Amino acid sequence: MDHTEKKGLLIVFEGTDGTGKSTQLQLLYKVLHDKGYPVVATREPTDGKYGREIRQLYVNRKKFSHEKELELFLADRREHVDELLNPALRNGKIILCDRYFLSTAAYQGAIGFDPETILNRNSFAPDPDLALLFQTPVDIGVTRIVSDRGDTLNDFEQIESLKKVAEIFSGIDRPYIKRIDATDSIESVHQTVMGHIATLFASSSFLPLN
Ligand code: TYD
Repeated sequence: MDHTEKKGLLIVFEGTDGTGKSTQLQLLYKVLHDKGYPVVATREPTDGKYGREIRQLYVNRKKFSHEKELELFLADRREHVDELLNPALRNGKIILCDRYFLSTAAYQGAIGFDPETILNRNSFAPDPDLALLFQTPVDIGVTRIVSDRGDTLNDFEQIESLKKVAEIFSGIDRPYIKRIDATDSIESVHQTVMGHIATLFASSSFLPLN
């Protein structure tokens, strides 16, 4: 999509599991929605046909080869970009997306692919205007998943591989990435998020946040 066509903003929420990014997405969604901004919330993996296939991977990751796993995430994203993200960007929406291609670089990077090669294979997908990268020590994230949510760890969430994922996230450098210390309280992390959104809106065609 060229710049004259893109009227909206793409804001993505990234990080390892248990960093609270989905909670922060919902809080931001509510603020923007209540202020009347044209906001849309979405997520990857999606609920489309590839996303549903990916969810089977959570249960038994050995079911598919590593290449097939990567291809499924790319196919899911391609469908998401064509059917939702690009049309919404053309229509001037502010998109909040829970996970995007930095997750592919980090998670599929952790199983052996080169993260930069993965990013190149995502060149069909528009760059985010802002990627909020939520960071906590992996142990804190895991405690949140297991004790607070009462969940067990799925195949993507095993501790050693999550440490590798966190390391790759830390090493990726892109101008649109803002790293957020997510060990603070939900409210204080929310205030940090609002600060980044205010800065982004100030340099966009959207009304300033107040
Ligand atoms: P998550 O956001 O935790 O979804 P849910 O809340 O439905 O469990 O994402 C599911 C898992 O998918 C997560 O552990 C990270 C993984 N993932 C990848 O491995 N690669 C990707 O490209 C994406 C988008 C997610």
